[in-house]
Amino acid sequence: MNITNLGTRDYASFYVACELYKQITQHPHSKLGLATGGTMIEVYRFLVELLSRNNIDVSGIETFNLDEYVGLVDNHEESYHYYMNENLFKRYPHFNASLIHLPNGNAERLDEEAQRYEALINQQGPVDIQILGIGENGHIGFNEPGTDINSRTHIVDLTYSTIKANSRYFEDEAEVPKQAISMGLSTIMQAKKIILLAFGEKKSIAIEKLLQTKLDSQFPASILHTHPNVEVYVDDASAQ
Ligand code: F6R
Repeated sequence: MNITNLGTRDYASFYVACELYKQITQHPHSKLGLATGGTMIEVYRFLVELLSRNNIDVSGIETFNLDEYVGLVDNHEESYHYYMNENLFKRYPHFNASLIHLPNGNAERLDEEAQRYEALINQQGPVDIQILGIGENGHIGFNEPGTDINSRTHIVDLTYSTIKANSRYFEDEAEVPKQAISMGLSTIMQAKKIILLAFGEKKSIAIEKLLQTKLDSQFPASILHTHPNVEVYVDDASAQ
């Protein structure tokens, strides 16, 4: 695992956008694993700029999002469907809709939906690059502390730490969904390359723990030490 402090959020976001851009232009049928959350906003902004400026054909690019809340309608402003449309797919409207995949957090039978999504990734994958943020408690995707390292796409009960952290995106804490559907740790580990980003002081403890923890299911991101191709980019604040 390589950890690099790129100084600022902007530098790191631009760097990762360039990595995605290179993957897309050099391999027009790439499969990308995408994440949401505050961390990724600038990555998508720079990626859209690069794609637009160079008029890149993305019709062969297939995307798989990590996760979605359970019970939010797709056009709810905090749903990850909405986030991806607003931050990427509407801003660069040349992706092939049939190749954009997110788990459906409104499925009637959530367990079946998790199985369907996992099967789709296994059939179409592995992804070439998976981008990841990290929770303050070390979660990746929505794999909370204690998640089985062999987990596949599953329904997750969000911990209070995550509900509290994510309440900053909702009007109040009570509105934050209590469950999500998420790729499992084992699903994430299938990616050929993983890039994790962390910004801000609030992530500094998680980054410190990531450096110190070898493999501990109580700190899910530590599984990344067992992947052969992981790059971590941080800013000054999270590197403290
Ligand atoms: C999002 C995701 C989560 C976030 C993490 C950090 O798709 O899977 O693991 O990456 O919760 O969220 P932010 O970036 O909002 O701090």
